[in-house]
Amino acid sequence: MQKYTIDQSTLSAVHKFILPEKLGFGLVPAPIMYSAEYMDGIWGDGYLEPARAIELQPSAKVLHYGQEIFEGMKAYRVGQTHSNLFRPEENWKRFNRSAQRMAMPEISLDRFMDGVYLVTAYCESLTPSNSGQSLYLRPFMFASEPSLEVSGANQFTFMVIASPSQAIHTDSMRVLIEREMIRASRGGTGAAKTGGNYASSFASRQIALEKGFDQCLWLDAQNHQSIEELSVMNFFAVIDGDLHTPALTGSLLPGITRDSIIQLAKLMGLKVIEEAINIDLLIGQIKSGQCSEAFCCGTGVILSPIKELGEHDGSCYQLARPEGDLSCQLRTKLIDIQERRAEDRFGWIETVPPQFYP
Ligand SMILES: Cc1ncc(COP(=O)(O)O)c(C=O)c1O
Repeated sequence: MQKYTIDQSTLSAVHKFILPEKLGFGLVPAPIMYSAEYMDGIWGDGYLEPARAIELQPSAKVLHYGQEIFEGMKAYRVGQTHSNLFRPEENWKRFNRSAQRMAMPEISLDRFMDGVYLVTAYCESLTPSNSGQSLYLRPFMFASEPSLEVSGANQFTFMVIASPSQAIHTDSMRVLIEREMIRASRGGTGAAKTGGNYASSFASRQIALEKGFDQCLWLDAQNHQSIEELSVMNFFAVIDGDLHTPALTGSLLPGITRDSIIQLAKLMGLKVIEEAINIDLLIGQIKSGQCSEAFCCGTGVILSPIKELGEHDGSCYQLARPEGDLSCQLRTKLIDIQERRAEDRFGWIETVPPQFYP
């Protein structure tokens, strides 16, 4: 455990908080936050306090050069007194891989988990407890150093904020194939969870929404042929009864949900194939019925089936099983573990150690 201070007013901020009936996803800010500062190679103590606006100099490097990383994870409290996390160490590992890529300092497991545990424990009373609901946790780090010099910073802030949330969109999705814009290229930052990847995806998402689609499907940067990701989620297709998903080439984010689904599918006896999925071949397989269902997955959505792929020119390809039989089975299996209705055979569930509670 690292050294941290808890502001006296933290508990009263939690007690005063009223959980709204309508939550949405990431819309309701939790009333507390954790932060720690890094300067010239040394991390300072952690601090848990009521949520507030933070001060930054206008020249803070994050505002100009986007030196920033984040994670997304959930604390569940469905049918339980105490909250539980799902594979939080995987988020910590990915956070540090993102830090390496973005020339930022790595963070110890203790410090990362202190922030996550403290926010989870203090927010337990405001963590919604219906199935599908959770406390969405957002650990993040940014370059707070005030300087316009074009170089990596020496001063950073690590924070954990949270939001009591409803699961994102769960209806079967209509997906627009993005043939022009790309999300990431090999050697770039696609495998890191950094803000720039998201900012550069918004234009395409906006077009998809205007055309009546829910999300857009990213193809590889070089040939615009292989499927990479679906918006900010990983992609799966059931082809001839096997589960296919794009291999981790370095330009897509290695999702923790993706990895969990692969492990669950293998346990169910399914063959899982991680290799390139050619979009035009896939369209042929959808038309012939060989590809019966497709879905996307991520922490927010968990797993959502896809009912249709579409092109900018108006062509549309309907999946034979738009509600996805296998997708539903995998979704149920995963949620049952996350919400602790099923046996945790993989050791994925973690509870908050007692010393973090008020
Ligand atoms: C670009 C991108 N791909 C995939 C995912 C899915 O990752 P995970 O399952 O770890 O949430 C996310 C969400 O974090 C993402 O932002």
